[in-house]
Amino acid sequence: MTTPRRQTVGRTTVLPRGAVAAAVPVALAALFAAAGPAAAGTIGSSGAGDPYFPLAGNGGYDVRHYDLTLGYDPGSRHLDGRAVLRARAAQRLTRFDLDLKGLKVTGVTVDHIKASFRHQGQELVITPRHALRSGQDFRVAVDYQGTPKPVTDPDGALDGWIPTDDGAFVASEPQGAMTWFPANSHPKDKASYDITITVPQGRTAVSNGVLVDQRTAHGRTTFHWRQSEPMAAYLATATVGTFKVERYTTRDGVDVYNAVDPRLASASAPVLKQLPSVLAWESKLFGPYPFRAAGAIVDRAPNVGYALETQSRPVYDRAPRLSILVHESAHQWFGDSVTLTRWQDIWLNEGFATYAEWLYAEQHGGKTSQQAFDAFYARPASDGLWAYPPADPGSGARLFGTPVYVRGAMALHKLRTAVGDAAFFRILHTWTADHRGGHGTTARFVQLSERLSGRDLGALFRTWTATAGKPSAP
Ligand code: TRP
Ligand code: ZN
Repeated sequence: MTTPRRQTVGRTTVLPRGAVAAAVPVALAALFAAAGPAAAGTIGSSGAGDPYFPLAGNGGYDVRHYDLTLGYDPGSRHLDGRAVLRARAAQRLTRFDLDLKGLKVTGVTVDHIKASFRHQGQELVITPRHALRSGQDFRVAVDYQGTPKPVTDPDGALDGWIPTDDGAFVASEPQGAMTWFPANSHPKDKASYDITITVPQGRTAVSNGVLVDQRTAHGRTTFHWRQSEPMAAYLATATVGTFKVERYTTRDGVDVYNAVDPRLASASAPVLKQLPSVLAWESKLFGPYPFRAAGAIVDRAPNVGYALETQSRPVYDRAPRLSILVHESAHQWFGDSVTLTRWQDIWLNEGFATYAEWLYAEQHGGKTSQQAFDAFYARPASDGLWAYPPADPGSGARLFGTPVYVRGAMALHKLRTAVGDAAFFRILHTWTADHRGGHGTTARFVQLSERLSGRDLGALFRTWTATAGKPSAP
């Protein structure tokens, strides 16, 4: 219950952690940056400025809404896509980028006028016929197609569009969104989504939010999903497979849609049955559930090794254990509704979701959080748990390591014991309320904790989240 599975199954068993991988994007970013000053001010940058993923996201505009229309054939693995983005220019733009990797772009328009484009690596560079004014709302349409392939992350894990034996498992943290749609692919830029997917009749395509329409014609079924609350690109999914579907509405009026691979139906049923009570329990601890829709996608994806908190409806690569359901559900507040601003702050996602598992165990007849904390603190200074501080992992290769999950949870436990339960849960409620649908940073969380507790917590946070090595006192 208390040992998070992601870093054991998800991260360490897949591949050795790549030390080499980081060098290439950094060099590329330097090249792009060097090209910048020539036309200073009118060219949207090729990255959002995140040192862990220099080419992730883009500068110069802000996406408001994505309208994705996809067709997928699991047999040939061919994807047809049309993406219509509504965005606002943050500066005068003669040129801007989207992130898209490995698919062929066949046409781009900006405000319905054909635009010229160049596709290089993960950057789709678009030159509109007419420059965009700062503050101008504009519409970009991209037609594309091909065989999507997942990307290999700096830590060796696969993410993005991952084919399965009956469809595709689509989980895009941190950088896989660009494997299936053109995006401003950095969590800084959240937007609402309409995602429409056509698949052969008999398959189901499951995405985020509410199912607004489903129709079958000529042997194909189209599913139209709408995610109306803001969402980061990495949290989008369009998972395709042969699924058993279950739908109901919770007492709180949340629409639940579960899609389960029939081979995993009996193994997952007892855990999925708990979803409403887990969400209700988390709502008491963290504040109101942030979305209109909920659910689960349980798929058989043997080469994935992790689950992901895709917004409103997490994807599980196998039948989940209850602790994993608790973890991915907690991410709906911590990560999905309140989203990180830079990947370095990943402990705001994983430390919190892991601490939710500890709290759940504690309040449901399992170990107490203190027992969990003590067991981890007993690990020797040489243990990987102390390899780096959770709020400063140092690179994209370390985002999902034990220090982020476990030491991140330990930091929250220290905060809770320092300020007491009343202040601690007030901090969590206020955090999710103040940043609902938006973003958070570690600095803001520290500030809020100090304000609501009336204490100076600098040393505590420094020791537990930002200092290398095992803290000398528990
Ligand atoms: N955020 C996921 C979780 O903890 C884990 C995750 C996302 C992951 N992408 C990954 C783990 C890639 C390993 C590899 O719920
Ligand atoms: Zn997690």
